[in-house]
Amino acid sequence: MKVDGKQIRPIWLDNDNVVNVIDQRKLPHALEVMTLTSVDEVIYAIQEMVVRGAPLIGVTGAYGVVVALETTTDQDMFRKACQRIKDSRPTAVNLAWAVERMLDNISYQNPAQERLAQAREQAGRIAGLEVDNCRRIGEHGAKLIADISKRKNNAAVNILTHCNAGWLACIEYGTATAPIYMAHKMGIDVHVWVDETRPLNQGARLTAWELGKQTVKHTLITDNAGGYLMQKKMVDMVIVGTDRSTYTGDVANKIGTYLKALAARDNDLPFYVALPSSTFDWQLTDGLKQIPIEERDPDEVRYIHGLAKTGVEKVLLTAKDSPALNPAFDITPAHLVTGFITERGICPANETAIVELFPEKR
Ligand code: MRU
Repeated sequence: MKVDGKQIRPIWLDNDNVVNVIDQRKLPHALEVMTLTSVDEVIYAIQEMVVRGAPLIGVTGAYGVVVALETTTDQDMFRKACQRIKDSRPTAVNLAWAVERMLDNISYQNPAQERLAQAREQAGRIAGLEVDNCRRIGEHGAKLIADISKRKNNAAVNILTHCNAGWLACIEYGTATAPIYMAHKMGIDVHVWVDETRPLNQGARLTAWELGKQTVKHTLITDNAGGYLMQKKMVDMVIVGTDRSTYTGDVANKIGTYLKALAARDNDLPFYVALPSSTFDWQLTDGLKQIPIEERDPDEVRYIHGLAKTGVEKVLLTAKDSPALNPAFDITPAHLVTGFITERGICPANETAIVELFPEKR
């Protein structure tokens, strides 16, 4: 996407097999690039959320496999490195999907240089596929927004989103934001309510910044404001992303998503989940019982980062010894989801409809 007139992606691989990433911890106050030259650095970037968001974590994993090949000639060590990358964050299924896809396409029979070329090509293909998928998600989802706009006689369509499922999380366009960017480009009047998304504030820091750079109208709200705005008829629809969804329709997404789905149902509002097929888990049937939910450091709840006179500072919010719990994701059950917006079209959140869109997964 363009930022201040310059085309940029959150990740790219250079000719020396060095992975370049935007350091998302620094946004919106600084746009800095970090280079990853070892498997440990790739894992650090994923775990510390230098990179984050399901499709981007997947692509980072794919480029991480290239780095592993570049830095290891021993097959056993290479496999162990890939396993470590795969295990570096548990919830987003794209990570395992991308690493496995890489391994399926690298042949150890080939000489090292050829293997590396194969890996580079495959990682590029995965990145390209996600870009393409997000573009299609945008095209399908924009029709939903256009319908609401028509019903409202072209008055602004108010869309609520949670966390950051934008281009920063997905290479280009985003998942939840793709329909919004597309509708905006089509000249539809859209306005986005951006949940701040505690504890790491991906909405406040990333989504609001992204939308601003694309000149999409938006307003930042606290995580608790959405229900009230829905009751006051100030929201027309909700679109969120997901880190893993079962093929039966249960959705894991950033903590707090479930509460928005409940509020949307109580207010009769459509609640859509936008995702590429790489985010479906084709093995699991029960999201609440089976999707692993990452529990992160309680200090992410106790502290907050912000811009002070002297630069970005970390500030303690609570009493030093206040106990805190930090589940990073929650599960929205299928029955609260109006539909999935995928690269192949829109479908209800149930097994029959999902498998009909992706018959090869049957
Ligand atoms: O912990 P994160 O920031 O990696 O979580 C990912 C998210 O931003 C979301 O939950 C998002 O809505 C889905 S990823 C497109």
